[in-house]
Amino acid sequence: MQSYNILYSFFIFLFSFYNLSLCDDESSKLFTHDPEYLISKHYFAIEPSETAFTLNIEPITYPDKCELKQLHLLTRHGSRYPSPLDIQVMDQLSEIFANVSVAKKWYKNPFPMKRNFQLIPRGEIEPYYDGKQSALRYDIFWKNVKKTRYDPEVVKFQAGAFSRTVASAMAYSEGLSNGDGPLDTCKNQPVYIWSLPVNEDNILEQDKNCLLANETVINNNPAYNEQNYTYANTTLKPIADRMTKDYGIYPLLNPYLVPYIYDYCQFWVLHFNRTDTWCSLLSEDDIIKTRYYWDMTDYYQYSYGNSLNEQTGCVYLTQLVNGVENYLNGSSIMVADLKNGHANGIFQVLATLGAAKNPFPLTANLTLSQIQQIKYSVAKTVYWSSTIYFEIIVS
Ligand SMILES: *[C@@H]1O[C@H](CO)[C@@H](O)[C@H](O)[C@H]1NC(C)=O
Ligand SMILES: *[C@@H]1O[C@H](CO)[C@@H](O)[C@H](O)[C@H]1NC(C)=O
Ligand SMILES: *[C@@H]1O[C@H](CO)[C@@H](O)[C@H](O)[C@H]1NC(C)=O
Ligand SMILES: *[C@@H]1O[C@H](CO)[C@@H](O)[C@H](O)[C@H]1NC(C)=O
Ligand SMILES: *[C@@H]1O[C@H](CO)[C@@H](O)[C@H](O)[C@H]1NC(C)=O
Ligand SMILES: *[C@@H]1O[C@H](CO)[C@@H](O)[C@H](O)[C@H]1NC(C)=O
Ligand SMILES: *[C@@H]1O[C@H](CO)[C@@H](O)[C@H](O)[C@H]1NC(C)=O
Repeated sequence: MQSYNILYSFFIFLFSFYNLSLCDDESSKLFTHDPEYLISKHYFAIEPSETAFTLNIEPITYPDKCELKQLHLLTRHGSRYPSPLDIQVMDQLSEIFANVSVAKKWYKNPFPMKRNFQLIPRGEIEPYYDGKQSALRYDIFWKNVKKTRYDPEVVKFQAGAFSRTVASAMAYSEGLSNGDGPLDTCKNQPVYIWSLPVNEDNILEQDKNCLLANETVINNNPAYNEQNYTYANTTLKPIADRMTKDYGIYPLLNPYLVPYIYDYCQFWVLHFNRTDTWCSLLSEDDIIKTRYYWDMTDYYQYSYGNSLNEQTGCVYLTQLVNGVENYLNGSSIMVADLKNGHANGIFQVLATLGAAKNPFPLTANLTLSQIQQIKYSVAKTVYWSSTIYFEIIVS
């Protein structure tokens, strides 16, 4: 029995080797992935459905005599269409792959520029569920708040002045308070969502308003540029060269385009639940490495990779502390402050707070196993519709 098994697998091995060398079929150089598996491994900014859409939430409990007095939420908008830059580079990739035989059926860009950054249905449902989950987790707190009719001075909603953030805040409010209001059969409750103009918003849009950060950290950042170059030369180039060779791309594929193949892959999974297009050009290790390219970029541009990012979250944190102080000393009646913003700004707030810091810097020379040990990243911490609650507890 034993020897039969060995002979049998030896035969299979010979057979597939023979197959590969004779046919040199380009499609044999594609990778297959299960979309659910990739999401469950946190390779994307997509929250797994099991946590995003569960209503199996335990109410939170505190030690005796401690009471939740005030709740502050900092959340990211829901999942969406790609950014303008992503769409632009996707167009470029589609052009390059137009004549690549393995890409014949799917090379065209399905993401129109006019939709850039807009929410998709999942991105509306995610914050809706976050609102429902909040009602369940802070059960006693919300029941108390809802004893009196909705008051925009008691429960405040703020969002960055973009469609994706304001619409996400609205979806959250519907999850939190549908059934409590006067409208129609669902008893919807309309709420006030306020925004500052983007160029004056240093609470949620601060990453766009600091000239010094813009000129030395987000753009023209020498420390980042060096890592960017090194990573492209050492990690992205071999992947690009392999694709060039396997798929007959001409001229040579630019290594800096490889992270955008990852982006393309992520958005095909998000929008169409399909891994048989751009994802099929990437092995699982390639996905990990290209994901990391963006983590490294965020690290230098918006997080601990530059000390300025340990200050740019201070306006958010100052207004948070004032909000607590004003409530506790009786000059305000605000018990909940629910804010909807973006990944970049949330990274800056976390860095200013000294939270969510990985034990080592995210440099270009990390090994694959170090990359796999990273705990705080877009995919694990600041994914679409991720929520950070600050609970003000008084005893
Ligand atoms: C693709 O193939 C077509 C027709 O064979 C040709 O006209 C075109 O220049 C090619 N494009 C690229 C990017 O190679
Ligand atoms: C930041 O830089 C970009 C491009 O480099 C520019 O378009 C934008 O206006 C700048 N913003 C500020 C606040 O300086
Ligand atoms: C990395 O460097 C390349 C080549 O200079 C540049 O095109 C790209 O914009 C850089 N990446 C980022 C995220 O700035
Ligand atoms: C790029 O990588 C190659 C090896 O892959 C190395 O020989 C070369 O020195 C690197 N270039 C730079 C500028 O680091
Ligand atoms: C995505 O596709 C997988 C199979 O490839 C299937 O098991 C899963 O249910 C699909 N998920 C959604 C959200 O449609
Ligand atoms: C309450 O605290 C705020 C913030 O520290 C302060 O500006 C305000 O004057 C205080 N009000 C009272 C009535 O003490
Ligand atoms: C990795 O790169 C960083 C920054 O360039 C450097 O400080 C560190 O010594 C390097 N580590 C190794 C193990 O080469």
